[in-house]
Formats: sequence, C-alpha cells, structure tokens
Amino acid sequence: MTSHRPAVVIVMAAGQGTRMKSATPKVLHEIGGRSLVGHAVVTARALAPEHLVVVVGTGREQVEAHLAAIDPEVRTAVQEQQLGTGDAVRAGLTVVPAGFEGEVIVTSGDVPLLQTDTLQQLVAEHDKNANAITVLTARVPDPTGYGRIIPAEDGSVAGIVEHKDATAEQRQIDEINAGIYVFDAATLRDGLSRISTDNAQGELYLTDVLAIAKSDGKRVGAFVTEDAMQTEGVNDRVQLATLRAELNRRTLDTLMRSGVTIVDPNTTWVDSTVTLDQDVTLLPNTQLHGATTVASNATIGPDTTLTDVEVGVGASIIRTHGSGAVIGEGASVGPFAYLRPGTTLGVKGKIGTFVETKNAAIADGAKVPHLTYAGDATIGEGANIGAGTIFANYDGVNKFHSTVGRYSFVGSNSVLVAPASIADGAYVAAGSAVTEPIGPGEIAVARGKQRNIRGWVARKRAGTKTAKAAEQAQEAAQQGELSDTGEKAEREARP
Ligand code: UD1
Ligand code: MG
Repeated sequence: MTSHRPAVVIVMAAGQGTRMKSATPKVLHEIGGRSLVGHAVVTARALAPEHLVVVVGTGREQVEAHLAAIDPEVRTAVQEQQLGTGDAVRAGLTVVPAGFEGEVIVTSGDVPLLQTDTLQQLVAEHDKNANAITVLTARVPDPTGYGRIIPAEDGSVAGIVEHKDATAEQRQIDEINAGIYVFDAATLRDGLSRISTDNAQGELYLTDVLAIAKSDGKRVGAFVTEDAMQTEGVNDRVQLATLRAELNRRTLDTLMRSGVTIVDPNTTWVDSTVTLDQDVTLLPNTQLHGATTVASNATIGPDTTLTDVEVGVGASIIRTHGSGAVIGEGASVGPFAYLRPGTTLGVKGKIGTFVETKNAAIADGAKVPHLTYAGDATIGEGANIGAGTIFANYDGVNKFHSTVGRYSFVGSNSVLVAPASIADGAYVAAGSAVTEPIGPGEIAVARGKQRNIRGWVARKRAGTKTAKAAEQAQEAAQQGELSDTGEKAEREARP
C-alpha cells in the first residue's frame, strides 16, 4: 500500500450523458446523498493529491457551481468540445503546472462506487512493478461496450481496443478497461501528443496512450479488481437505480458490521454522508439523509425520514418526517411528527403525535405531546404544552416569536398569538386566546365565561331525542332527591 501523495488526479466529467434524457448534467444526478461527481471527488480527495482537477463541459456552469460548493479546492478545466477521453485529459493537464513530474491518476465522474483503497491498491501495483501506466480492470460476464485489455506475451498489457474497433476475436476477451488509470506524467504527456482520431468513433482515445507507451518499450500493467461493481459507470437511469441500490446495500452492510441493528435492510436507505453510532436501531421504512447523525441506543422508525437531523443518545423517533433538527438525549418524537428546520428538543423532551415544529427551541424535559403547531417558539425547561395548542406566529405579513417559561403549563386548545410572552411558572387556562403577556405565577383565562340557560332544550328542541333524554335525566334526578329526603327523614326519626 502506498502512502505518497499523487501529483495530480484528473476526474473526467465533461461527457454529455445523452442516455440519461435529463436537463440535469449526468454527473449531478445523485445516489446515496451525493452527486455522481461528488462521489468521484470524495474518493479522489482521500488520496490527498497535490492537484485535483475535474474536466467539465456539458452543463459546465452548473457542475462548476456544484464543485465549488462541495470541494472549493477542486480545480476545473473546461473541455469545450467533447472530442474524446484523450482530449478530456489534455484539457485537464492545462490547469496544472506544465512539466510536473510524478503520477497522474485518471478517473471518471460517473463511476460512483469506486473506493479510495482500490485506487491505493492500483497505485501500489503501479509502483511495485515500476510501470509507466497501470490500468484498473475487471473480468465481467458481459463485456459488451467496454474497451478490452489486450495482453502482451510477457503478461503485461499490449494495449486497449474499444468495443467498436475490436475484432470478433478481441470481443471474446472478458477483461475490461474500467476507465481508471495511473500514468507517469511524462509518459502521459508524450502519448497524448501522439494520439489520433483514426478509429471507429473518430475520437481522441485516452486508451491509445497505453499501446504507444508499450511500443516505446515502457512497462504497461493491469490491476484486476475482484469487485467489478466498483468500476461500473452510470449511463442511464436504470444503471443509476442499480448502483444506488448497490451503494445502499454496501452502506448498510458496513453499518451493521459496526454495530447498528437494521431490522429491514430492504426498506432502509442511508446516505453515504450519515453517521450512526453503535447500538442504534433502524426500524423498517427508514430513510436517513444528508448530515444526519444518530447517537448510540437511539431508535429510528418505522416510517421515518430524517435529513440533517442530529439525534441524541437513547432518543426515539417514530413515524416522523424531519429536517434540520436537533433531538436531545432520551427525548421522544412521534408518532406522526413533522420536524422543520430550527427545531431543537432538549434532554428527555417530547414532541408527540400530530405535532409540527419549526424554529422551535424546546428545552430539557419540556413536552409538546399532541396536536400542536409550534413555530418560532422558545419553550422552557419542563413546560407542558396542552393538546391542540397553536403558536400563531404569522399575522399574514410578518412572523413573530413567542416564549413559554420554565415549568409553565398551557391548557389544551389554546392559541398563543405571537409575540406571546408567558413567564416561568405560569398557567394558561384551556381554550384561551392569549394576546397579553403573562407574569410568573399568574393564570391567564382568556375565553368567554360559561353561562347555562335553563330549559333551553325543552323550548327550542321540543320533541327531539335530546329533549326526551333531558326530561328523563331531570325526572331521575328528582326521584333521587325525593328518596334522599325520605332516607334523611327516617334517619332523623331514629331514637
Ligand atoms: C471509456 C473507455 C473504455 C472503458 C470505458 C469504461 C475510452 C476511449 N474508452 O469508454 O475503454 O471500457 O470508458 O467505462 O476512453 N468524457 C469527457 N470528455 C469526452 C469524452 C468523455 O469528459 O470528450 C468523460 C465522460 O464524461 C465520462 C468518461 O469521460 O465520465 C468516459 O467517457 P465515456 O464516453 O463514457 O467513455 P466510454 O465510451 O464508456
Ligand atoms: Mg461510459
């Protein structure tokens, strides 16, 4: 295994991707939470090259903006016309210092499963054999469409022949070019100056550099990977789905081996960017995306989708859709909760059933258990928000923030009109519409006072079952009163 830094990695990503049938450039399609080119960049970056270059062309503004966002150190080289892979690498070399020495690794922006350790093995093989060029290859059951590796008599590589240029005999070869190489820089520059478009596709083939080097008496080798999936490229959306599923399987396998319980791997999707600690449990139909992190002993699912959510030790998130939230240790969320960005829930806090939260800081031990909208809110430690409470944060023009203090209690079905200010240790009577501040120790009763109108049912609903029920209840009550009076008289008459 090598530890030295390669001089340059060039990721070819200028191709059209016509078969994707998409307005989005092929390399920006996503699997496992990263764009295709994002996977290629992360894999290449782990080698710590002195220069990491991505060759862009099709949809270059979009691809360049994306690269600047995910890895600002990436240099882009523009290939104006897609004249072939040889031309792409020529373009890549124009943005690094001329005449540099060392190794150039070339990969593709549409090969997302390739791992850094495979590249390291490729480089190690290259160094061990003192090769001028080493190509990554695989043996596959159906080599149709790929370039074939033509063996030399000494066991090295004589060259690569593209499928379209190959003879019937050459097409029998099942060792294919993965399109991933290590080149000695001088050999690469020299070869690229000598390639031509004299081939079936009229393109400048990078692959022709191998036969040129070989004919110059340089050593050209192949490194065969056992894991052919790592070399698969995406050309259409069927392959995109296949590689997405394969990447997910690999991610889940790695997680399970690191101590995560995944009850149903077939319905669980975890992005490459997610971190799960030991003894996390994922229940069926769980999707974890983006920068989501889950600490030990937490349980997620079933039927839960989290994006950029941080879950604390031992927390439980059931049937929830969440993004941009932080859930504290031992807290519980769901079933049927909707966590929107800016939600934070403290230690042992609760966000319960049919609750939507947005920009809401809910402190340790506070509970929002049922049927609530909490938007633009600060809820203090140990506070209890009764069923059906609405934080009315929007007046149709502006949004305002409301506060509920420590250990305060908001009665059911209250509306807190923002900016509401409820002090520590205060109460809101059920059914209140709160529009004024409430001080410590106060109870606010902000609702119509109850008045009962006697005989209303008999007058206004005569003849209905309701009226009948009222009559029966009144009679029963009268008889009860009578027998009470009788008992009382009897008791009093005793000596
Ligand atoms: C290439 C190889 C083939 C190999 C296969 C592996 C050549 C001539 N052939 O064929 O031996 O088996 O990859 O998948 O290299 N690209 C550019 N600019 C261009 C052309 C391509 O940037 O002008 C990029 C594409 O975006 C893609 C990569 O280079 O990321 C490979 O190009 P593609 O057209 O897919 O090459 P293949 O015909 O598949
Ligand atoms: Mg291809």
